[in-house]
Amino acid sequence: MIKRLRRLIVFCFPRQRVIRDEVIIRSVADGIVVVAGGTEMLDSVRDMWTKLTRDAARHSTHFSEYFHEKSWDERRSELLKKASRGPINVDVATYGGRQLGFCISSVIDGAGEIESLYVEECSRGRRVGEMLVQRSVQWMKENGARTMSVFTVYGNDDVLGFYAKRGFRPISVMLIHE
Ligand SMILES: CC(C)(COP(=O)(O)OP(=O)(O)OC[C@H]1O[C@@H](n2cnc3c(N)ncnc32)[C@H](O)[C@@H]1OP(=O)(O)O)[C@@H](O)C(=O)NCCC(=O)NCCS
Repeated sequence: MIKRLRRLIVFCFPRQRVIRDEVIIRSVADGIVVVAGGTEMLDSVRDMWTKLTRDAARHSTHFSEYFHEKSWDERRSELLKKASRGPINVDVATYGGRQLGFCISSVIDGAGEIESLYVEECSRGRRVGEMLVQRSVQWMKENGARTMSVFTVYGNDDVLGFYAKRGFRPISVMLIHE
């Protein structure tokens, strides 16, 4: 359902599939550490995901209520279902043990998708989002993505500039009957 409310931005690239289940902790820059893993990490991003849906509700032009009502359990189930069809990666950026942001990515049948991306408000503008997208794109390519896409809430026009700089451009707008 959520996909139907968002714009599709797509970008293609062919690569080989690599499966990675273990949790990886990697220091990237300036003391930022990325903890990466699979579905076992989903619950660790629950609070940030809740803030992401609030942000979506605030931006949505026509379907604010939908985002207000969306629950973590529902989203978690969707992601677990996807994980049964292909690899899922969860990256959590941290600084001194504090979470700065997260990105969930999936690849199913060669279709890579940035499932969710969020950076805490107080950490924005410090390239955390850019780093998470770069890592996501790299991970999707390594896992056989022939296309890479991300859905954004209709009304969140500002974020289009952010994605455009990373090679993601709008391709279509899906309309949903209320
Ligand atoms: C979008 C988001 C992840 C960006 O994270 P961030 O860490 O602040 O981004 P960065 O610091 O890496 O930004 C890099 C560049 O993108 C620009 N940018 C960041 N967020 C932007 C936004 N919302 N709109 C327009 N430009 C944005 C920055 O100004 C910067 O531009 P520059 O390259 O010209 O200097 C963050 O704003 C966020 O979590 N927003 C709310 C949730 C959301 O919209 N998620 C995406 C849903 S699909």
